[in-house]
This record gives sequence, C-alpha cells and structure tokens, in this order.
Amino acid sequence: MIIREKVVSGIRSTGFLHLGNYFGAIRNYVRMQGTYECYFFVADIHSLTTHPKPENLRENVHRVLAENIASGLDPDQVALYAQSDLPETLELYTYLNMIAYRGELEKTASFKEKVRLQPENVNAGLLTYPVLMAADILIHQAVKVPVGKDQEQHLEMTRNLASRFNNRYGWLFPEPEAFNFGDGLVKIGSLDGQGKMSKSENELVTIYLSDPDDQIRRKIKRALTDEGPKTPFAEKPGYIDNLFLLLKLVSQPEIVAHFEEGYNQCHIRYGDLKEQLAKDMISFISPIREKARSIQSDTPYLARIMKQGAEKAEISAQKTLRQARELIGIHYY
Ligand code: ADP
Ligand code: TRP
Repeated sequence: MIIREKVVSGIRSTGFLHLGNYFGAIRNYVRMQGTYECYFFVADIHSLTTHPKPENLRENVHRVLAENIASGLDPDQVALYAQSDLPETLELYTYLNMIAYRGELEKTASFKEKVRLQPENVNAGLLTYPVLMAADILIHQAVKVPVGKDQEQHLEMTRNLASRFNNRYGWLFPEPEAFNFGDGLVKIGSLDGQGKMSKSENELVTIYLSDPDDQIRRKIKRALTDEGPKTPFAEKPGYIDNLFLLLKLVSQPEIVAHFEEGYNQCHIRYGDLKEQLAKDMISFISPIREKARSIQSDTPYLARIMKQGAEKAEISAQKTLRQARELIGIHYY
C-alpha cells in the first residue's frame, strides 16, 4: 500500500474568490490533488465570526465550492467538504482550546487586525480563530498546508499547539508546514498598492474570478502606476512589482521579458502593459467564471459532492479523535 502525505487547506465562505485565493491556494490544491491525500474544505464555521446573515450562508458555501471545482479541483480525487459537516473538528478545537493561551492568541496579527476593523464585535471566536484552524489541520494529522503568505503566523500557531499537545499527552500530531512547492508563499497585492487582494475588503482593487470582462479591464486600467523608472535596472516599487507578478502568472514568458526589458531600459509604457495584462487576465478568468456559474446552479451535484467529501473526511477525522481522547484520558468504560 502506498502511504501518501496528508494535505489540508480551507477557504472561508465570506465572499467571491479572487486572484489571491487562486494563486495563493487553489492552484496548489489542483497541483497536489493527484499526489497527496487531500482534504479541502469551505470554512463556513470560521465565517461566523463576522455574523453573516443566515440566508446568505448556503449561496456563499456553494459559490466557494463551485469556484474551486471550476478552477480544476476534482471532487473525486480529494475530499471536498464543508467544515460544519465534520463535527470532529469542533471536538478537537475544544481540547486544543485548553492548551491555547490568552497571551499568544491576543498577539496574533489577524486578531489585532479584526479588533481594529470591527471593534464592536470582538468575540471569543475571533480570539480562538487560529485554534479552530489548527483543529482543521490536525484532525487529519496533515503535514502540508497549501496557503498564501498571510497564513504563515497561523501555521506557526498550529505547530505550537501540535507540539504542546504531543508533549503533554504523548505523540499524535506531526508539525505541519505552509506549502508552495518549495517556493516562497504567494501574496497578491491589491491594485492600489495598499495591502492584499481580499474577499471582503478592497473590492475595487481586487480581481475576482467572477468579474465580467469589462470590469477586469477597468480595474487593471485604474491600477496604481507612476511615471516609470528614471535609472536603468531600478528596484520596482511594490505596486509595480505586483503588476509584473500578475503578468508572470497569466502571460507568456516572452511578453513578461518584453516588459521587463522596457522597465530595465526606462522606456516602459504602463498603458501597454495594462492593456496586455487585461487581455491575458480575461483569457485566464473568463472560462473559470463561466464554468463556476454553471456548477453553482447545479445544487443536486453540489449536495452530492459535499456528502461524498464529508464521508471521506470523517474516516480520517474519527481515527485521530479516538486517539486524542485516549491520550487525554477520556476512556471510562
Ligand atoms: P480572504 O483573505 O480573501 O478572505 P481567506 O482568508 O478565506 O481569503 O483565504 C483563503 C486562502 O487564500 C488562504 O490560503 C489565503 O492565504 C489565500 N489568500 C487570501 N488572500 C490572498 C492574497 N491576496 N494573496 C495570496 N494568497 C491569499
Ligand atoms: N484561516 C484561513 C484564512 O483565513 C482559512 C482556513 C481555515 C484554513 N482553516 C484552515 C487554511 C486550515 C488552511 C488550513 O485564509
């Protein structure tokens, strides 16, 4: 029997997926699906920290699933499920909460950011967000976690909780690593150079997999640029670097080389670069958008694959949970 390394990753159902989700996470899900034992899920419980309307949950979860499948994820090769369909995760979350400390949780960058953004709703779920994420990963004893750069600190917390559990109760959890095939983790910046592309903020400067062609063109046209470099081989400012990164991700290498040369020789025309980028971005996004739309309307299909995914995930989760309970001492009869 071939034993394959286990992989886990999740995406919150908080809105439309964007280029950051695709190039930070989903592209690697697709690349990993044939080789690893993969568990990918929609983090619907995590989305509750920001109190979404109950009537929006179903559509949001369906959209994330549809956009993943349209991007090439094959539900028959991986376990694709909703976080809420795997209650084992929530039991492990409770156990991990007993060894997660207030000080370390309050120091987490994502918590501090949420406190700043939504001071009226600083709930306990936000504080323990990284503990639930650790439970998502450790419930399958995963070793690799394909995520974008913004998740690095959460992964570090997961490793700390894993080793703390192992030291206290006995070895159960490998310490998982954020994964991008040996390369640095990806961060796709927003088009105004202020932070990252994101589902729920920065909508005008984030490109979504559901954006119509003219919207993609408009957003790229308005992306922040400047007068261009004044000296050959100048270092690129972050917002220009980000445009080149997008170009590298969707355009042919000769096209990238052409604009690199223009930049290095100080005769680049950002208008031309944007026009080319918009054209290649549209060719990249439009088939995904159309495919996602048709998958999303097929609710019986989505129900079937979610059930199938949850059944696969349960097998691995129940095994881990049995061992965790045993180690903690919960075995009375
Ligand atoms: P968002 O932050 O847009 O709400 P999530 O928090 O649900 O998205 O993230 C899902 C996945 O997408 C994670 O692996 C995360 O690291 C990745 N991701 C999100 N935004 C970006 C980005 N701008 N660049 C690279 N990866 C990103
Ligand atoms: N916290 C992740 C994010 O905001 C989403 C997530 C939840 C996740 N659980 C996970 C990612 C487990 C990887 C593994 O992007």
